[in-house]
Amino acid sequence: MRTSFLICDAGGVPTSDATDLPDFPLDSGPHGSPSPTWAALRAAGPVARLRAPSGTELHVATGYDDVEFVHRALSRRAAIEAGAEFVVGDNFNAGTSLTTMDPPEHTRLRGVIGAAFAPRRVAAWEPMVRRSAEDVVAAMRTGAQAGDLVDVFCLELPVRVICALLGVAREEIPQFRRWTGAVIASTGMPPAERLALIEEFRAHITALVAARVADPGSGLVGDLIRARADSAGDRLSEPELVGLVMALIIGGHETTSTVLARGTLTLLRHPEALAELRADRTLWPGAVEEILRYDSTSTGGMPRGTAEETVLPSGARLPAGAAVIGQLAAANFDPERFADPERFDIHRADHRHLSFGQGPHFCVGAPLARMELRIGFPALFEAFPDLRLTIPAEELEWSTGTRVRALRRLPVAWGPRRR
Ligand code: HEM
Repeated sequence: MRTSFLICDAGGVPTSDATDLPDFPLDSGPHGSPSPTWAALRAAGPVARLRAPSGTELHVATGYDDVEFVHRALSRRAAIEAGAEFVVGDNFNAGTSLTTMDPPEHTRLRGVIGAAFAPRRVAAWEPMVRRSAEDVVAAMRTGAQAGDLVDVFCLELPVRVICALLGVAREEIPQFRRWTGAVIASTGMPPAERLALIEEFRAHITALVAARVADPGSGLVGDLIRARADSAGDRLSEPELVGLVMALIIGGHETTSTVLARGTLTLLRHPEALAELRADRTLWPGAVEEILRYDSTSTGGMPRGTAEETVLPSGARLPAGAAVIGQLAAANFDPERFADPERFDIHRADHRHLSFGQGPHFCVGAPLARMELRIGFPALFEAFPDLRLTIPAEELEWSTGTRVRALRRLPVAWGPRRR
């Protein structure tokens, strides 16, 4: 990776030449650790400029306060106007996705989804999440005692949960995994095959939504349909509803599975923390927040844009029409915000990491994700006290060139060790 960056001074004026910008996204450091480059960027100035795969020039903020501001105050639509709708991957859901909208348009969709994800409703899902975790662990007990944990646990649990919420039959789960795999494959699948699978997926969700419109029933899609009917003002169109359901399916499993995989690796690499958690279950909620901070999956939130010249909290000035990335994971390692940020500390008291974003697009599924992590980690580590890596950590493969820093596979054994 090139190490020279186009750095802006505190006034937002570039202090080096723009002809050879380094590429965004920045890959992670060894073993998925934060890219050493973020620290270099932060030390060199509040905002750096990098080049997106699309060729668009990006302003990248890495400090906590600036990143928080970018997510809370800047516009998604202005990013699209600046040519940076999605800087990595594509928008399979263009025009119908709440992730591409600004308030008040965004508020209309968000109100519908917010009603379906109200705290009381999410709390009622807990028995189902527990059952799903028990079922996944039971399947691991009966099968081979070693394999890829991403496949058998980290993906399997969130997919089962979201399928249960949507009322998708068990037998259909493998098909859902094929479709969602295509959506997140990005460059990992031939484009024609990928697009065909995404269209199949959309057709399936369209049919599922149409059937529920006639008979909403008690699941999440029924809740969305009822919330749509109850909402004041413009009603959601059917394609918007399909877009919402697809956003929930996609948003609802890849990120959670990545945190389950990365968090498991982090705990295996910190046996003293794991021993404390095994001795005292009440430590899990704090540990989950630290895992979210330390293993935050997003190498950058979705791009925002400036409609006018904008001054960030650091004093950096962004010109009008700029595409801006608030680097969430880098903010979680800002030493001005988190003492000794490179240390994994399950007793850390400050849980205000930015892993779920901030502002109007704050992750709608955060309460569900937290529930899955708080149930999933103890279920795994209590069922399999001998869980261990089967290859050296240095040989693990990490995704590159994606927005989400994921382990491709996590080869482990979970059967008892031969003593
Ligand atoms: C640990 C797991 C998760 C992480 C780290 C995560 C992270 C995020 C982040 C950072 C954003 C904001 C992106 C931005 O503003 O640029 C976001 C938005 C979103 N997330 Fe999550 N997420 C997780 C789990 C979930 C789950 C379980 C669901 C649904 C069931 C979900 C659904 C969504 C949706 C629909 C949005 C878009 C919200 C909007 O644009 O208003 N996420 N997520």
